[in-house]
Amino acid sequence: MNHLIARSVMRRAVAGASPLCYAAAALRTPMLSPAPGVQGEGLSAALQRMMSSAAEPTSSPPPSAAKAAKSSELPPEKGGALVSSYWGISRPKITREDGTEWPWNCFMVSEIVPILQPWETYAADVSIDLHKHHVPKTFIDKLAFRTVKLLRIPTDFFFKRQYGCRAMMLETVAAVPGMVGGMLLHLRSLRKFQQSGGWIKALLEEAENERMHLMTMVELVKPKWYERLLVLTVQVVFFNGFFVIYLLSPKMAHRVVGYLEEEAVHSYTEYLKDIDSGAIENIAAPAIAIDYWRLPKTATLKDVITVIRADEAHHRDVNHFASDIHYQGKELREAPAPVGYH
Ligand SMILES: [Fe+2]
Ligand SMILES: [Fe+2]
Repeated sequence: MNHLIARSVMRRAVAGASPLCYAAAALRTPMLSPAPGVQGEGLSAALQRMMSSAAEPTSSPPPSAAKAAKSSELPPEKGGALVSSYWGISRPKITREDGTEWPWNCFMVSEIVPILQPWETYAADVSIDLHKHHVPKTFIDKLAFRTVKLLRIPTDFFFKRQYGCRAMMLETVAAVPGMVGGMLLHLRSLRKFQQSGGWIKALLEEAENERMHLMTMVELVKPKWYERLLVLTVQVVFFNGFFVIYLLSPKMAHRVVGYLEEEAVHSYTEYLKDIDSGAIENIAAPAIAIDYWRLPKTATLKDVITVIRADEAHHRDVNHFASDIHYQGKELREAPAPVGYH
């Protein structure tokens, strides 16, 4: 049987499905139905019900939400989500405030103990000050500032005012620092037997939030092959470069991110100007953005860019704050971590 599972997994791997997807898909095949004696109420059916996120017939979810919801109903060979019956990994059925089913697995507070419902987890603070700027004074600050300004030159040259593509590229970079910082703090916590003061979680939340920006942008912009190639190249260079900078000087690493976020606020402000002028069509917001930021169903691209810009301003403040803590000769764990904003 292991041989059959392996073959099934390999077939789906070749077909391009994600590893989790094809592994679970293999487990979903009839020959792998729970053996007699396995606990559970018709496990396959029960878990199918629990994992299903099909839309209620009483509402008409936006197309991408419906697509996400329906994917769990399709057979694996047609790209359906997989239901693992053996390991007991599942999540309970979750509904929105209006009773429609929650189709996203990629963001929610807790599948096991839903103290908060998914829509209660996050809302952007659009009242945040967009004009804050850290004036570089020390050598490290000036180096960080100049580095970010230098990085902007090829970005301006390549993308010009194509703010959709530009934002997509920006987000593939912006989601890296939180993960690198969180990972290094995690390892430090293990090495030193010390609490992180919540900073691991805060930085990983930032990475998650940035990745959701990207998931939103790819609903709006379909990257071309050479843009995907550029993303790969930039990720290899930026991840390794940032990793080394964070190891050598966390104060500089957070300052670089602070300035990157200042640039992100600027870019999204320009994006909004083009929407206001009509140069970019103010289309309907993607379903994933409506649910992630708890936007009204009638929300538009302008609403989405407005909340993304507010997130960037928050990241700017968090990272400049983190750099300031290091400048005071302290460790991040000694200051309150901004956990829970995202
Ligand atoms: Fe972002
Ligand atoms: Fe950001």
